Amino acid sequence: MSRRDIDLGAEPLVSGAADEPERRSEASLRPTSLASFVGQRDLVGHLDIVLGSARSRGQIVDHLLFAGPPGLGKTSLASIVANEMGSGLRITSGPVLTRPGDLAALMTDLHDGDVLFIDEIHRLSRSVEEVLYPAMEDRRLDVLIGRGPSARTIRIDLPSFTLIGATTRIGLVAAPLRDRFGFVGQLDLYDDEELTSIVERSAGLLGVAISPEAASTIASRSRGTPRIANRLLRRVRDVAAVNDLVGIDADVAAEALALFGIDELGLDKLDRRILGLLCRQFSGMPVGLVTLSHACGEEATTIEDAYEPYLLRAGLLIRTPRGRLATDRAYAHLNLRAPGGGLV
Ligand SMILES: Nc1ncnc2c1ncn2[C@@H]1O[C@H](COP(=O)(O)OP(=O)(O)O)[C@@H](O)[C@H]1O
Ligand SMILES: [Mg+2]
Repeated sequence: MSRRDIDLGAEPLVSGAADEPERRSEASLRPTSLASFVGQRDLVGHLDIVLGSARSRGQIVDHLLFAGPPGLGKTSLASIVANEMGSGLRITSGPVLTRPGDLAALMTDLHDGDVLFIDEIHRLSRSVEEVLYPAMEDRRLDVLIGRGPSARTIRIDLPSFTLIGATTRIGLVAAPLRDRFGFVGQLDLYDDEELTSIVERSAGLLGVAISPEAASTIASRSRGTPRIANRLLRRVRDVAAVNDLVGIDADVAAEALALFGIDELGLDKLDRRILGLLCRQFSGMPVGLVTLSHACGEEATTIEDAYEPYLLRAGLLIRTPRGRLATDRAYAHLNLRAPGGGLV
């Protein structure tokens, strides 16, 4: 098979955005119970207590906020909470709710005990946020009817519901909004062992045989992120399929990942571009996020949310008050000489 057989640009391997076929495939791999949710042990333990307590009191669950980089399981947790509580789930997102009326329409349509999930809640507009506060606190909506002198506010009582918010930017969630959540769960990048079991679980669901070594190879190149682990698994499965292989072993996995430009650290083209810019073009100078974003032609938020967390954790990049810097490890990874040092 030649490299040209595969369109490398077809699917972003790292970015948080999922296209339509991927969303469907993601839904099929989503854990449906807390027990099948791998990792995040502290968070899952706390959540288990919150859910158990609500259940024993016969009440609905407090409003919950999940924060963390894309692909770590925030949406999955929201649907798990609804499942475990036997509640209905309504899904929306911050940028979709542009006017207070959008939120009002959604909320008046809720049933008692429903879970309302608002993804990217840090992107709600102020006017929508203000409608949300009394809804979260007192289960009431104050809706402004009419215009000018004849305008008046009417109050609508809402059914009891649990709001679950998700954000990749906890720092951008307004303090009054954050304070109205009864529980805030922070999701962290996964370790290789956890990702290996996620890959094995997903392979089982996809009906592909995979050796433990292959699962661990995919895991170690997934940048701590289950969504990426599942993506890589699907791409490796594709390569195995076009080569008429019945299962995935370590060789096929390594070969397929190399084909897609994923290196031993799990870095893809854009990661290497970011590091390359820092090491070569800016030759060791601190670089601001906006400059970096222009230089590599990628949205600043994508770099900050989807790329940096792993580059930071892998010790390849550091953030200083004056900008981003590549570390000696980054120079070594790119086979370059670090400024002021030998080839590390
Ligand atoms: N803890 C986990 N255990 C198993 N699979 C997971 C876990 N977290 C995430 N996933 C997988 O990763 C995919 C992306 O997770 P998702 O909940 O959509 O992340 P987020 O909402 O944080 O971006 C899911 O479809 C699921 O298959
Ligand atoms: Mg999500």
